[in-house]
Amino acid sequence: MIVKNHKPKKIIELIMLLLISGVVLCGCTGSAGNNKEGTDAKNIKREKSSASQPVTIGLSQIGSESDWRMASTESVKAAFSSGAGYNLIFDDAQQKQENQLKAIREFIDQGVDYIILDPIVETGWDSVLSEAKEAGIPVIVYDRRVDVADDSLYACWIGSDFYLEGKRTCMWLSDFFSDRGIDHNINIINIQGTMGATAQIGRSKAIEDAVYHSRNWRLLAQESGEYTTAKGKEVMKKLLAKYGENIDVVYVENDNMAYGVIDAIRESGYVTGADIDKGEILVVSFDATHNGLQLTLDGAIAVDTECNPLYGPRLAEMVEMMEAGEDIEKETYIEEDQFSAVGYIASVNVEDTEYPVTYLTSKIIDERAY
Ligand code: AHR
Repeated sequence: MIVKNHKPKKIIELIMLLLISGVVLCGCTGSAGNNKEGTDAKNIKREKSSASQPVTIGLSQIGSESDWRMASTESVKAAFSSGAGYNLIFDDAQQKQENQLKAIREFIDQGVDYIILDPIVETGWDSVLSEAKEAGIPVIVYDRRVDVADDSLYACWIGSDFYLEGKRTCMWLSDFFSDRGIDHNINIINIQGTMGATAQIGRSKAIEDAVYHSRNWRLLAQESGEYTTAKGKEVMKKLLAKYGENIDVVYVENDNMAYGVIDAIRESGYVTGADIDKGEILVVSFDATHNGLQLTLDGAIAVDTECNPLYGPRLAEMVEMMEAGEDIEKETYIEEDQFSAVGYIASVNVEDTEYPVTYLTSKIIDERAY
């Protein structure tokens, strides 16, 4: 009897279970897919990503240390606006990796559709990206890279070839000295970015390699200015006090530090410029921001190698492709320019590829987007 009573109950339970599963499965197949594995978290996410719902993006930004960074933030905020169909959760990590880790864990808890990450340094991401993968949330990395044991922990990366930027700068210097017939020892100071950041690793390695392979280039000092104007100035003041007139070249790893370096040189009674045989200190920089290019046109920076911060449209395109289920490249390098207003160097050759150098005009600066 008990058994009899149970049989119809079990059938009803079974029918209900099938109905519930059917509803869930319909929800999955009816919306644009982001990822492959069918976890519960992902089923919820897929439903949110359907055409009528905004796509929720959790974006972890490093901070606001430079003009470049602020232009980058503006670009991504504009691309992921609510008008464009996005719900952007933006987190500023204030230069701390621990804040980025915390933000990513919060994005996972919130069940965002995508996580977009500009990582402050390359290492230390394995655990948190495993958690994102476990939750079925694709992670798009941009600008700097992550160094993880398993590259399936992130969907894709887009950014600059920072080593190439550095090589182009070193090649410009080499060509410039050849053109001017300068053959004596060249004493160089390297003001580095945030240690462990991809941009720092690539740009520092380029000058280290150039010095290593050169007959007469010497690296007097390398020290981090943390990508900021204030720290760049502080470090340069200290190095000027130590090396003073022995300094020929300052290889500065971003424009904001270059602003500080130029201030320090001037305040210490030295002159910036390309005429090192007349005692001028030649400054090279990276980013090619509006202010950086103005200093280049004025002659205070000899060459400014572009690092383009306008990632918003590129990232939005990646998300759109993933929403449409299209294949995306695992790695994408962006193309960048190089600007100078001294010398007659029209291009530099790096590993058998010719890269143009744009002769800077005020028109280029006026039209600059950042
Ligand atoms: O990662 C890109 C670098 O970070 C830029 O050169 C610099 O300005 C920024 O802060």
